[in-house]
Amino acid sequence: MKVKIKKSDPMDLLGAWKVKEKCRKDDGMLRQDFITFSTDFSLNHSFVAKKEDKIVGFIIFRDTGYISIFGVHPDYREQGIGEKLVEKPKQKYNKLWCHVRETNQDAIEFYKAVGFKEARRVSSYYLNGDNAKIMVYEEN
Ligand SMILES: CC(C)(COP(=O)(O)OP(=O)(O)OC[C@H]1O[C@@H](n2cnc3c(N)ncnc32)[C@H](O)[C@@H]1OP(=O)(O)O)[C@@H](O)C(=O)NCCC(=O)NCCS
Repeated sequence: MKVKIKKSDPMDLLGAWKVKEKCRKDDGMLRQDFITFSTDFSLNHSFVAKKEDKIVGFIIFRDTGYISIFGVHPDYREQGIGEKLVEKPKQKYNKLWCHVRETNQDAIEFYKAVGFKEARRVSSYYLNGDNAKIMVYEEN
Protein backbone atom coordinates (compact mmCIF):
# COMPACT_ATOMS: atom_id res chain seq x y z
CA MET A 1 0.00 0.00 0.00
CA LYS A 2 1.12 3.55 -0.76
CA VAL A 3 2.76 5.74 1.87
CA LYS A 4 0.75 8.84 2.77
CA ILE A 5 2.25 12.00 4.22
CA LYS A 6 -0.11 13.83 6.58
CA LYS A 7 0.03 16.73 8.98
CA SER A 8 0.37 15.20 12.40
CA ASP A 9 -2.18 15.32 15.18
CA PRO A 10 -1.60 14.55 18.89
CA MET A 11 -2.55 10.87 18.31
CA ASP A 12 0.55 10.52 16.10
CA LEU A 13 3.05 11.46 18.80
CA LEU A 14 3.72 7.95 20.14
CA GLY A 15 4.06 6.42 16.66
CA ALA A 16 6.58 9.10 15.67
CA TRP A 17 8.43 8.63 18.97
CA LYS A 18 8.73 4.86 18.28
CA VAL A 19 10.32 5.57 14.87
CA LYS A 20 12.65 8.10 16.50
CA GLU A 21 13.67 5.56 19.15
CA LYS A 22 14.27 2.88 16.50
CA CYS A 23 16.60 5.33 14.68
CA ARG A 24 18.43 6.04 17.95
CA LYS A 25 18.90 2.34 18.77
CA ASP A 26 19.90 1.25 15.24
CA ASP A 27 21.91 4.26 14.08
CA GLY A 28 22.89 6.10 17.26
CA MET A 29 21.22 9.25 15.83
CA LEU A 30 18.22 11.29 17.05
CA ARG A 31 19.07 11.17 20.74
CA GLN A 32 16.49 13.64 22.09
CA ASP A 33 14.60 12.65 25.23
CA PHE A 34 10.81 12.27 25.23
CA ILE A 35 10.08 15.70 26.75
CA THR A 36 12.23 17.51 24.18
CA PHE A 37 10.79 15.43 21.32
CA SER A 38 7.14 15.80 22.34
CA THR A 39 7.51 19.57 22.88
CA ASP A 40 9.14 19.97 19.46
CA PHE A 41 6.47 17.73 17.85
CA SER A 42 3.57 19.63 19.39
CA LEU A 43 4.76 23.24 19.09
CA ASN A 44 6.27 23.20 15.60
CA HIS A 45 5.25 21.91 12.16
CA SER A 46 5.19 18.13 12.16
CA PHE A 47 4.21 15.61 9.49
CA VAL A 48 4.15 11.83 9.56
CA ALA A 49 4.47 9.18 6.85
CA LYS A 50 1.87 6.43 7.22
CA LYS A 51 1.75 3.04 5.55
CA GLU A 52 -1.66 1.54 6.22
CA ASP A 53 -2.07 2.60 9.86
CA LYS A 54 1.58 2.42 10.83
CA ILE A 55 3.77 5.51 11.20
CA VAL A 56 7.02 4.83 9.33
CA GLY A 57 8.57 8.31 9.31
CA PHE A 58 8.22 11.87 10.56
CA ILE A 59 9.63 15.37 10.13
CA ILE A 60 9.53 18.36 12.48
CA PHE A 61 10.45 21.85 11.30
CA ARG A 62 10.21 25.39 12.64
CA ASP A 63 9.00 28.71 11.29
CA THR A 64 12.59 29.66 10.47
CA GLY A 65 12.78 26.81 7.92
CA TYR A 66 14.93 24.86 10.37
CA ILE A 67 14.45 21.06 10.26
CA SER A 68 14.87 20.05 13.87
CA ILE A 69 14.38 16.30 13.66
CA PHE A 70 13.59 13.90 10.88
CA GLY A 71 13.65 10.11 10.51
CA VAL A 72 12.41 7.13 8.53
CA HIS A 73 12.12 3.66 10.11
CA PRO A 74 15.11 1.54 8.96
CA ASP A 75 12.80 -1.08 7.35
CA TYR A 76 11.26 1.59 5.08
CA ARG A 77 14.35 3.53 3.91
CA GLU A 78 15.45 4.17 0.34
CA GLN A 79 11.85 4.03 -0.91
CA GLY A 80 11.48 7.78 -1.36
CA ILE A 81 9.72 8.43 1.97
CA GLY A 82 12.39 10.82 3.29
CA GLU A 83 12.20 12.82 0.04
CA LYS A 84 8.39 13.04 0.33
CA LEU A 85 8.63 14.24 3.94
CA VAL A 86 11.17 16.95 3.11
CA GLU A 87 8.78 18.25 0.41
CA LYS A 88 6.61 19.63 3.25
CA PRO A 89 9.04 22.31 4.49
CA LYS A 90 10.13 22.90 0.85
CA GLN A 91 6.52 23.79 -0.03
CA LYS A 92 6.43 26.36 2.78
CA TYR A 93 9.89 27.99 2.79
CA ASN A 94 12.41 29.03 0.11
CA LYS A 95 15.31 28.31 2.42
CA LEU A 96 15.77 25.35 4.74
CA TRP A 97 18.60 24.38 7.05
CA CYS A 98 19.51 21.74 9.58
CA HIS A 99 22.33 20.32 11.67
CA VAL A 100 23.59 16.82 10.90
CA ARG A 101 26.09 14.83 12.93
CA GLU A 102 29.35 14.87 10.96
CA THR A 103 29.53 11.06 11.27
CA ASN A 104 26.01 10.60 9.82
CA GLN A 105 27.12 10.04 6.25
CA ASP A 106 23.76 8.48 5.25
CA ALA A 107 21.89 11.66 6.17
CA ILE A 108 24.52 13.89 4.52
CA GLU A 109 24.19 11.89 1.28
CA PHE A 110 20.40 12.02 1.57
CA TYR A 111 20.39 15.81 2.01
CA LYS A 112 22.73 16.26 -0.98
CA ALA A 113 20.46 14.01 -3.09
CA VAL A 114 17.47 16.26 -2.32
CA GLY A 115 19.27 19.51 -3.14
CA PHE A 116 20.98 20.62 0.10
CA LYS A 117 24.58 21.83 0.23
CA GLU A 118 27.08 21.68 3.05
CA ALA A 119 27.40 25.20 4.43
CA ARG A 120 29.73 24.92 7.41
CA ARG A 121 30.91 22.84 10.33
CA VAL A 122 30.08 23.47 14.00
CA SER A 123 32.61 22.01 16.43
CA SER A 124 31.28 20.08 19.45
CA TYR A 125 27.65 20.93 18.61
CA TYR A 126 26.24 17.73 20.15
CA LEU A 127 26.19 16.87 23.85
CA ASN A 128 28.73 14.06 23.42
CA GLY A 129 31.14 16.44 21.67
CA ASP A 130 30.41 15.32 18.10
CA ASN A 131 30.75 17.98 15.39
CA ALA A 132 27.84 19.01 13.18
CA LYS A 133 27.54 20.02 9.56
CA ILE A 134 25.01 22.66 8.64
CA MET A 135 23.17 21.67 5.48
CA VAL A 136 21.29 24.36 3.55
CA TYR A 137 18.65 24.20 0.81
CA GLU A 138 17.80 27.28 -1.27
CA GLU A 139 15.12 27.24 -3.93
CA ASN A 140 16.47 28.41 -7.31
C1 LIG B 1 18.16 10.35 6.21
C2 LIG B 1 16.86 9.54 6.06
C3 LIG B 1 15.70 10.33 6.65
C4 LIG B 1 16.61 9.30 4.54
O1 LIG B 1 15.32 8.68 4.39
P1 LIG B 1 14.95 7.73 3.15
O2 LIG B 1 13.49 7.53 3.16
O3 LIG B 1 15.80 6.50 3.18
O4 LIG B 1 15.39 8.62 1.89
P2 LIG B 1 14.81 8.53 0.38
O5 LIG B 1 14.54 7.08 0.06
O6 LIG B 1 13.69 9.47 0.21
O7 LIG B 1 16.07 9.00 -0.45
C5 LIG B 1 16.09 10.21 -1.22
C6 LIG B 1 17.39 10.31 -1.93
O8 LIG B 1 18.46 10.25 -1.00
C7 LIG B 1 19.37 9.19 -1.34
N1 LIG B 1 19.81 8.50 -0.14
C8 LIG B 1 19.04 8.13 0.91
N2 LIG B 1 19.79 7.46 1.81
C9 LIG B 1 21.05 7.40 1.28
C10 LIG B 1 22.28 6.82 1.72
N3 LIG B 1 22.35 6.15 2.86
N4 LIG B 1 23.38 6.95 0.94
C11 LIG B 1 23.31 7.60 -0.24
N5 LIG B 1 22.17 8.18 -0.72
C12 LIG B 1 21.06 8.07 0.05
C13 LIG B 1 18.52 8.23 -2.16
O9 LIG B 1 19.34 7.46 -3.00
C14 LIG B 1 17.63 9.16 -2.92
O10 LIG B 1 18.32 9.72 -4.02
P3 LIG B 1 17.77 9.57 -5.51
O11 LIG B 1 16.43 10.29 -5.51
O12 LIG B 1 18.82 10.24 -6.32
O13 LIG B 1 17.62 8.11 -5.73
C15 LIG B 1 17.00 8.14 6.75
O14 LIG B 1 18.20 7.52 6.32
C16 LIG B 1 17.02 8.19 8.27
O15 LIG B 1 15.99 8.21 8.92
N6 LIG B 1 18.23 8.21 8.90
C17 LIG B 1 18.37 8.14 10.36
C18 LIG B 1 17.89 9.41 11.02
C19 LIG B 1 18.65 10.62 10.52
O16 LIG B 1 19.85 10.56 10.31
N7 LIG B 1 17.91 11.73 10.31
C20 LIG B 1 18.45 12.97 9.81
C21 LIG B 1 19.10 13.69 10.92
S1 LIG B 1 19.10 15.41 10.61
